Amino acid sequence: MNVAIVLAAGSGSRMRSDIPKQFMLLNGYEVIYYCLNVMQKSNNIDEIILVTKDEDIEYCRKEIVNRYLISKVKEIIPGGKERYNSVYNGLLCAKKRGADIVMIHDAARPLISQRMISDSIEATMSYGASTVAMPVKDTIKIVEENNDGIFGKTTPDRNLLYQIQTPQTFKIDLLIDAYLRLKDSGNYNITDDTMIVEQYTEVPVKIVPGSYENLKITTPEDIFIAENLLKKNIKKTEKNC
Ligand code: CTP
Ligand code: MG
Repeated sequence: MNVAIVLAAGSGSRMRSDIPKQFMLLNGYEVIYYCLNVMQKSNNIDEIILVTKDEDIEYCRKEIVNRYLISKVKEIIPGGKERYNSVYNGLLCAKKRGADIVMIHDAARPLISQRMISDSIEATMSYGASTVAMPVKDTIKIVEENNDGIFGKTTPDRNLLYQIQTPQTFKIDLLIDAYLRLKDSGNYNITDDTMIVEQYTEVPVKIVPGSYENLKITTPEDIFIAENLLKKNIKKTEKNC
């Protein structure tokens, strides 16, 4: 069974908005609606676990899941202080429900596609772990800081650099095992689940092509960009009908 864990327990500090960014409106629909809608329609996703703040659980049930008839959402559970706490809560719940494969996705990425979901599941069935990613476009620099400010130090080969997105998809036992080792180590300096698998297992994470459009809503200008990308996609779908 393939279970999606949708992460919506963040507070969106960089967005500087009154309501958490996952519940802000994009063309009249909440940010979180878009990924749930794609997953609801996917043949590759059996169930969805929604992870959100305690105080938003009832809102999610009434205003998102019931209102948009996202019947694959089987549980709405509280997240934790850091992203990895929220993932871990989702993982335990998915294990209890009998998941074999888990797909971790940021609710703040509304531009996930059916193609990304099916490619991610296929790659994970073969390799155990996968993430959606894209080659970086800019030159990236390692920097160092001294009393006069920040200075360039070295420049890694751009051909070896990818920007990592979600969904990130794993055989559940592999990811739970990696999380238990992370807990043992006590070193929580990690930003996503592929990093945990890299550090605590021998399994290389397969890179699946994402899209430059698959942005994470993070700062206010992302709202405008995402609204326009979503409008363009709707027009494209209408043309194909
Ligand atoms: N997230 C979560 N639990 C947390 C922190 C983040 O479920 N404790 C989720 C967010 O809701 C978001 C995704 O993880 O969908 C990616 O995190 P990020 O973009 O960093 O969102 P926030 O943490 O909400 O934003 P910020 O870092 O600006 O505060
Ligand atoms: Mg954050």
